[in-house]
Amino acid sequence: GGGGGGAAAAGEEPYLPSSDVMGFIEQTDDAVYVDNGHFVTIDRSGMRAYSFDGSESSYAVTKVSREFADAYKGDYAHYTLKEISEQPDTVVRAGTGGGGGGMAEAAALLRACRDGGRSVYVTGSGTSYNAALVARHVLSKRAGLRAEPVMSSEMPHWPEPVPDGSVLLALSQSGESADVIEAAEMARRAGASVVSIVNLTASSLAQESSVVVGMNCGPEIGVAATKSFTSQLAVIHGLADEIGGAGGGGGGAGGGRFDAAAAAAAISGVLSDHARIRELAARLKDVSDIYVLGRGVHYPIAAEAALKIKELTYIHAEGMAGGELKHGPLALIDSSVYVIVINPGDSTFDDMVMGAREIKARGARIVGVSDSDSDVYDHWVRIPRMADESAYPVVEIIPLQLLAYYLALERDTDPDHPRNLAKSVTVK
Ligand code: G6P
Repeated sequence: GGGGGGAAAAGEEPYLPSSDVMGFIEQTDDAVYVDNGHFVTIDRSGMRAYSFDGSESSYAVTKVSREFADAYKGDYAHYTLKEISEQPDTVVRAGTGGGGGGMAEAAALLRACRDGGRSVYVTGSGTSYNAALVARHVLSKRAGLRAEPVMSSEMPHWPEPVPDGSVLLALSQSGESADVIEAAEMARRAGASVVSIVNLTASSLAQESSVVVGMNCGPEIGVAATKSFTSQLAVIHGLADEIGGAGGGGGGAGGGRFDAAAAAAAISGVLSDHARIRELAARLKDVSDIYVLGRGVHYPIAAEAALKIKELTYIHAEGMAGGELKHGPLALIDSSVYVIVINPGDSTFDDMVMGAREIKARGARIVGVSDSDSDVYDHWVRIPRMADESAYPVVEIIPLQLLAYYLALERDTDPDHPRNLAKSVTVK
């Protein structure tokens, strides 16, 4: 409690203190939200609530079962698999949460920055920071808006504050990451507006924001973020379309509007066949190093794929910009290494194939995530060809999430609860 977002399960016994109802939803649907400036004591006689001045206060028990009904994992073996599988629906719903009005308001603030010649800043932690890196490309390309990504944990050490009158776009599934909340507070103090893209619209970050856009992807229980990532990407695309092209009007500088339905259909296609991914996972399970490469907007997807592999499998994985491997890390490449190249048929394709040949010549095995096969791939992970190229990132991360999941099963690690990690890191 105290810091906001606190909750504890109520009942005869036991009491379960947690920063999030997801921590106990499987044990009880009775929750007590602890107000800011309050704390509770729990002993054999029960639970009591107090304000910081020491006076006892009353508390109310809230039923959370209906609101969070679809938190249960149903027929799926793990929440992570369930959440990966929900993405054809969640990418379409993205941005409509929290009343849905946030999109237009957020776009208006961002448009004003662009039209006034100002950059905006995008921040997040972990997976949400990788989404911020995608935002940098998408907002510039589709809406002519310069967006500078800043890791939330780096914000306190940034050389200059977010400028007065600018916007900080804060990305967070939980809205409770301490680093992100601190970044938002700093931006606010400097005179910037905070626009947050959150899944939990009652969160501390949402309360700190001028405008809130709800990701609306439903509870995400698996510690590793999956569906919240693609929801963030879909919201960013939606915002770019809403802001409109650099010359004003709709459309976006990068061509037509983002086609969420087409992305959803492509994701369903990828999800309809797990067999190739399982086979690949079986081959990769004893590998000590995996490199994931992507160029341009695919670089953040490479970083995100490597993060999923690290979190779920404890295999050393690194996401890198496709052209950078030759500037040093190539020294690490030998026949024991696997390199995954994210290689859709867009403007990055030719450079990527060339780079993959150089790596293969050093003995590494190449996995190509692409809509077309190539002789350079030892293993081809097929994704559908997209008429709207900007939808590739939302689609190409899916087989890599699945790969991390099946690698976890192969290695006998628990995909829902990776060691040492917490779903929400509410401390600095
Ligand atoms: C933790 C989780 C990550 C997540 C990050 C940011 O580190 O383990 O999976 O990406 O927090 O979480 P947020 O809720 O702010 O998006």
